[in-house]
Amino acid sequence: MFDLITGKVQDENRQGEAYAPFANDPSVYKKRFYIESYGCQMNFADSEIVASILNKEGFGATRNVEDADLIFVNTCSIREKAEQTVRKRLTEFRKLKKKRPGTLVAVLGCMAERLKSKFLEEEKLVDIVVGPDAYRTLPALVTEAEGGQRAINVLLSREETYADISPVRLNSNGISAFVSIMRGCNNMCSFCVVPFTRGRERSRDAASIVQECRELFENGYKEVTLLGQNVDSYYYAMPSQPSSMDGHLNEQGQSIGDGNVITFALLLELIAQISPELRVRFSTSHPKDITDEVLHTMARYQNICKYIHLPVQSGSTRILQLMNRTYTREWYMAKVKRIREIMPDCGISSDIITGFCTENEEDHKDTLNIMAYSRYDFSYMFFYSERPGTLAHRRYQDDIPEETKKRRLQEVIDLQGRLSHESNRKDLGKIFIVLIESESKKDSNKWMGRSSQNKVIVFPKDNSNYTKGDYVTIKVNDCTQATLLGEIVKM
Ligand code: SAH
Ligand code: SF4
Ligand code: F3S
Repeated sequence: MFDLITGKVQDENRQGEAYAPFANDPSVYKKRFYIESYGCQMNFADSEIVASILNKEGFGATRNVEDADLIFVNTCSIREKAEQTVRKRLTEFRKLKKKRPGTLVAVLGCMAERLKSKFLEEEKLVDIVVGPDAYRTLPALVTEAEGGQRAINVLLSREETYADISPVRLNSNGISAFVSIMRGCNNMCSFCVVPFTRGRERSRDAASIVQECRELFENGYKEVTLLGQNVDSYYYAMPSQPSSMDGHLNEQGQSIGDGNVITFALLLELIAQISPELRVRFSTSHPKDITDEVLHTMARYQNICKYIHLPVQSGSTRILQLMNRTYTREWYMAKVKRIREIMPDCGISSDIITGFCTENEEDHKDTLNIMAYSRYDFSYMFFYSERPGTLAHRRYQDDIPEETKKRRLQEVIDLQGRLSHESNRKDLGKIFIVLIESESKKDSNKWMGRSSQNKVIVFPKDNSNYTKGDYVTIKVNDCTQATLLGEIVKM
């Protein structure tokens, strides 16, 4: 459900306890850790890196916070509300710590990076503070904290990509996995805290990415989502041509991987070639950077999903300029048009911020209007939340009253509801290949999966032999605003 006060905050509401199944026998582990993650998918992917680092040290994961010797909270700073949620959670852990002295609480991620040692001063019962580029030092920091010291490492790095660390898949459905391909962000969107909390952009070694995806496929995974704040600026210069890419041909029989530079389009192609049975998704695309080459690569491979998350933020060129998004309203619209020319069936979603500094009713109308033009299948919608230290905080006044921000947000949410419903209604009668992810939450007689366009489709199991991870052909016969409903068709 959308919430008027918060917007659809898919990001910061995503939270989860994590456990690794191999923690069942506590006697083999030195310590047990519990990890809870907030924020974007990249933070969730980082928690899997952290779990891997801790595993190697002989620490086992637990899903029960009461059993943990170490509590990790991987935090998000994107909006004020995200930080408030974490602070509330920390007060609960504080009570736990009083009950079980000796339990250590560690704050990881973007809030750790933003607040640094202030965290230790403000939150007296936090023992360890670690920024996103310092997870390798976690074991040493834990030892320090056990010795009674307050342990902190918030150094950002220009190189760290954790390329060699094989993530421990936490809470995975065994079908879809997230694979981090780059870290940090070099864009300076004026509202955004990420460049400050995640540091400079750097791309991960292409061979290690392809290898990770291949291993996932060999272990039964059917879908990988490549993650980065701005995946289209992925750029990796190979030290030398890796043997794993020798002799790779694209579908036209041309050699790919020549030269030493791997662009995002090339990376997509290399991963798509692992197997036609492995779906490839990616997030997020910055409208200024997504190229025709990427669009054509998507179009060429049936297993690269026809879905692009293309955050617009605002439909007003004046506001986009203040946001430092570096594109205009017209540029964005041309991009949407281009996507639809090359892939008429491509799903598109967006992120939208209402009530940015100086936004007037005209600007707001431009946003509503660009949403209708783009016909988004869905959007993540927020009202502007000023973040300390950002360009907007330093340069502009946060001058739109909260009730105006929220009223505009509600208008954006209402319009998106109509657009989503309209988009779903257009799918009635159509046939989609669906990857089965799980049983439907509401009805164990039904499966739930997604179309290439990233739409959720629910359908009766129908006494068929299909199971999780299978591809199945579905005809859509009904829909709600959020979901398509269908039935299995024999082809
Ligand atoms: N790298 C991605 C976005 C990452 S943050 C991109 O460039 O699109 C996810 C979303 O949070 C952003 O797209 C933006 O819509 C929203 N967001 C970021 N900072 C915000 C702020 N200060 N207030 C409200 N929403 C914000
Ligand atoms: Fe933030 Fe902009 Fe970078 Fe996205 S591209 S993470 S919004 S600075
Ligand atoms: Fe939040 Fe950091 Fe991601 S601020 S959205 S967890 S990069």
